[in-house]
Amino acid sequence: MTALQPTIATSGTNAESTAADRAYVFHSWSAQAQISPLPVAGGEGSTFWDNEGNRYLDFSSQLVNLNLGHQHPRLVQAIIDQAQRLCTVAPAFANDVRTEAARMILERAPGDLSRVFFTSGGAEANENAVRMARSHTGRHKILSTYRSYHGATGTAIAMTGEPRRWSGESGAHGIVHFFGPYLYRSAFHSTTEAQECERALQHLTTVVEMEGPATVAAIVLEPVVGTNGVLVPPAGYLAGVRELCDRYGILLVADEVMVGFGRIGEWFAVDHWDVAPDLITFAKGVNSGYVPLGGVVISERVAASFADRAFPGGLTYSGHPLACAVAVESMKVFADDGIPARARRLGEDIIRPALEDMATRHPSVGEVRGLGCFFALELVKNQATREPLVPFNAAGAAAAPMMEFAGACKANGVWPFVHFNRTHIAPPLVISEDELRTGLKGIDAALGVADQHVGI
Ligand SMILES: Cc1ncc(COP(=O)(O)O)c(C=O)c1O
Repeated sequence: MTALQPTIATSGTNAESTAADRAYVFHSWSAQAQISPLPVAGGEGSTFWDNEGNRYLDFSSQLVNLNLGHQHPRLVQAIIDQAQRLCTVAPAFANDVRTEAARMILERAPGDLSRVFFTSGGAEANENAVRMARSHTGRHKILSTYRSYHGATGTAIAMTGEPRRWSGESGAHGIVHFFGPYLYRSAFHSTTEAQECERALQHLTTVVEMEGPATVAAIVLEPVVGTNGVLVPPAGYLAGVRELCDRYGILLVADEVMVGFGRIGEWFAVDHWDVAPDLITFAKGVNSGYVPLGGVVISERVAASFADRAFPGGLTYSGHPLACAVAVESMKVFADDGIPARARRLGEDIIRPALEDMATRHPSVGEVRGLGCFFALELVKNQATREPLVPFNAAGAAAAPMMEFAGACKANGVWPFVHFNRTHIAPPLVISEDELRTGLKGIDAALGVADQHVGI
């Protein structure tokens, strides 16, 4: 065994902590030699800081999970209290906080959703939702969209509709991709929201018919597409997908891992369109990620399928009491502080008008879209042709304009979410109005850097 040096946690310089990290830690989705992770020494609310005291407004909510911000005193206390009562218990036992977390989730869930299966995160939630759908229907195919992310495990990555799937899809079978609505870059040459809705539904209907409706177990989609663009569906789209599913006995699975629990201004994103899926998957915002938690909310009908035959799935940490205790407290904070309504109001009163104003002044802004505390600025080289500021899936030198923009945001004290040619505005839902305005000013100033790449 190699003798390892003790690490420098939060006491050294940024460079020392980053060097220690690079010596021992293997990071997600990264070329290990090319990254330089910023050491985070602490955080409070919407702000975090590094070892050298540089502070950042978190416009990314970490990985769009920190809905109640860093170190929320009620969530921290919930962990302490539960740790003193019972730190862990196997999934086969009944446990009071697990029961209460499930009850509270179901109290807010749409339609006839009536049971919760807990997982440790979003990918596992999608794995299990698909297993339930296949087992319930006796069918094997799953339809999911291009421009989606569903997680990094076997089936979840196969359902994913973006480059992270490419090297990880070899083992999964029966996954078929289709195009969802995206008017700005319409796959259907639409020019209006209504046309995009109608054509996207016609396309999906054709895909179902071509694949054989009796072979399709589920259609899985993000009600608002998250990482792949904050794509808000046109009015009528989700209702149309629901109708198509009902016509052919297909289950509708809403992946709300990123957009559930207040992000778009609703407890569940589907509530915005008043559509009830058969299964909803969740994680992230359910407890702001203080302790890993995810799950599947299950309709009465699907749950009944497993009344007298075993559900073929399980996880050691299913319904972990520390994670469930934070979820319970988080839902109480949501109710006490009116968090979903607050997210909606911040979006309409502050974020949307500020971004639309930026769009009039910055030639690099192609489109503004979003809901609640979840918006995207799509950056372009040319507003008329809509050529993206960087190519699809750009890396290295090709991605430099977006990296320069991100660097400018950080220099302005804002930690941005950047993906391909977009920046997403996804602050904690507890961000103060002043902080939100300050962060938006930082983004506005950084767009000057993106503007320099317009037309070249
Ligand atoms: C929509 C969606 N589904 C699933 C996942 C996977 O969740 P996890 O990383 O917790 O496995 C993510 C993660 O970003 C997501 O955004």
